[in-house]
Parts: sequence; C-alpha cells; structure tokens
Amino acid sequence: MRRSVTLAVLLCALASALAAAGCGGEKVVTPTPDTVVGSVAEQTVPEGEAEAGKAVYTDAGCGSCHTFEAAETSGTTGPNLDESLQGKDAQYVYNSIVNPDAQIAEGFQPGLMPKTYGEQLDDKQLGDLVAFLTPES
Ligand code: HEC
Repeated sequence: MRRSVTLAVLLCALASALAAAGCGGEKVVTPTPDTVVGSVAEQTVPEGEAEAGKAVYTDAGCGSCHTFEAAETSGTTGPNLDESLQGKDAQYVYNSIVNPDAQIAEGFQPGLMPKTYGEQLDDKQLGDLVAFLTPES
C-alpha cells in the first residue's frame, strides 16, 4: 500500500514536471453514463436493403405485435410502426430493435418486446430490417 502511494506521488511529480500539470487541486471530471439497459454504447447501424427487410420482419414475427402497412400486418400489442416511426432515423429504429427497453414508446409497457433480436438476427438482417422500417425522409 505504502509503496504504491509513494509511486503515485513520484508519478505525479514526474507528470507535473513534464506537462506542468499539477496533481491534486485539479478538477476531476468524471463522465456520468446514462442509464443503459442491455448492451452499452450505440452501435452503428449496418447497411441494408429495404426490400430484403420485409422477409426479415415477417419471419421474425414482428407483425404479431406491430401494425406496419408495407408488410400488411396489424398487430396491436406494440406501436403502429407506420405512425410511431415517423420522423425517426435509422439509429433510433435500430436501437429500438436491439435494445427495446432503453427507450419505451409512449403509451406502451417495457418488457413486452423480445430483447433477443440483436442476437437472433445477424447484421445483414438487422440492416435490411432497419432499412425496411425507416421512413423515407
Ligand atoms: C411480443 C410483442 C412484440 C414483438 C414480437 C415485437 N415487438 Fe416491437 N415493440 C413491442 C412493444 C410493446 C413496443 C413498445 C415498447 C418499447 O418501446 O419497447 C415495441 C416497440 C418497437 C419499436 C419502437 C417504436 C417506437 O415508436 O419507439 C420498434 C421499431 C419495434 N418495436 C420494432 C419491432 C420489430 C422490427 C420486431 C420484429 C423483429 C418487433 N418489434 C417485434 C412489442 C413487440
């Protein structure tokens, strides 16, 4: 314990000598992370093709809970994606799929949408799905 303290003091002295940066008395800025449920950090949205995304949507059973006209589904457990995704970008849509509880659509309960799609679907499928669902802007 004592040794490491001495070492720290030494390192400080060295650092301040080198960079004229004082040890102690400095304001230490600690970034406070936002509360993230599930996987940390936003991931980049994979590239995808909207046409291929329709089959992913159908096969994954999204339509049992979501209404989405382009896929001719009318589920009502989750939000109507034609309406709720208006004005949303690909990053938002992607996050909603891989980490559904991080942000909950207004008027809906957390914990209903399966949290497994991020693992169940590969990057190509996710990219296609996001392209299919993201409104053109
Ligand atoms: C068991 C029902 C269920 C299934 C299956 C399901 N969802 Fe959801 N989904 C929900 C619920 C409930 C919400 C609202 C709560 C939330 O935001 O997590 C939601 C939210 C969303 C949102 C965010 C909407 C918004 O306006 O913020 C997107 C996008 C979405 N789902 C896409 C999908 C896709 C794509 C699939 C298939 C891969 C899928 N869902 C499968 C129930 C489901």
